[in-house]
Amino acid sequence: MAELQEVQITEEKPLLPGQTPETHSVETPYGPITFTVYGTPKPKRPAILTYHDVGLNYKSCFQPLFQFADMQEIIQNFVRVHVDAPGMEEGAPVFPLGYQYPSLDQLADMIPCILQYLNFFTIIGVGVGAGAYVLSRYALTHPDTVEGLVLINIDPNAKGWMDWAAHKLTGLTSSIPEMILGHLFSQEELSGNSELIQKYRNIITHAPNLENIELYWNSYNNRRDLNFERGSDITLKCPVMLVVGDQAPHEDAVVECNSKLDPTQTSFLKMADSGGQPQLTQPGKLTEAFKYFLQGMGYMASSCMTRLSRSRTASLTSAASLDGNRSRSRTLSQSSESGPLPSGPPGHTMEVSC
Ligand code: BEZ
Repeated sequence: MAELQEVQITEEKPLLPGQTPETHSVETPYGPITFTVYGTPKPKRPAILTYHDVGLNYKSCFQPLFQFADMQEIIQNFVRVHVDAPGMEEGAPVFPLGYQYPSLDQLADMIPCILQYLNFFTIIGVGVGAGAYVLSRYALTHPDTVEGLVLINIDPNAKGWMDWAAHKLTGLTSSIPEMILGHLFSQEELSGNSELIQKYRNIITHAPNLENIELYWNSYNNRRDLNFERGSDITLKCPVMLVVGDQAPHEDAVVECNSKLDPTQTSFLKMADSGGQPQLTQPGKLTEAFKYFLQGMGYMASSCMTRLSRSRTASLTSAASLDGNRSRSRTLSQSSESGPLPSGPPGHTMEVSC
């Protein structure tokens, strides 16, 4: 691996005492990568590492979730590393003409440089769309360093010729920003033109780095199959929470992905009324599901979850029992009644502390 070199450090204004995010950039074999660290490393705990989708950066993808009030009780126990895909960081210059943007596999290969630089050993990955693919690829090649994955809107398949034909046809009538919006949001959401849609349409259409965004979009469309196969060696070994909105453009892909992963390690959360970006529209429900996911991994003792445990809004129940027959995957569905999921994936012994 090329020698790591810090090329830039910028500090933003502190949010709270002791919570100053620090933005770093390190060199990798595929060019520099920028990431922002929130919080301080906690001994014997993985870092939460996020990877955003096309058309977004870490803030526009994850800020509503990570700044959600109930989320604070969870994330204060973890250091967070928010990666910006190359050219997506705030103020990124436009890449020169002919610049070879990394493939999604190469983006995954940049992650070890980040972890080595920070001296972090294991992560819980949270990825959306293209970012979910990148983190899954990383988990396939570095399974010992990934303790868990939250994958929102993952499509593990390469585009088939039918998808390419549809993509080309859409490209005849739509601009790149509209195509990306069609990847991020459902048609119903786009035609409803809510404030959220107006905001993201505005962000993407007027992005000063739109050329860079198009390069990340091309890499996403040229992804190869992750080739997940249940029972084969090519599968995710860690606990996985798959998330998709029930109206999301990627619902079928996530359902298929669920069928290919180890059911004893995989939870599937289909969220009602959440559209294409549940982390933007339903941060409360996602926070609660994330809490159960971490509890299942032994990280959040329920006694630590004072405020969240009392919260009875937007709660989730398990549709499948976890404490006996684990031959099928867990499906989490929304309910008005609350009840925590039994915790502890098999073969996973982790500390329970807060
Ligand atoms: C965090 O606390 O991890 C966070 C805060 C703002 C934006 C994104 C993440």
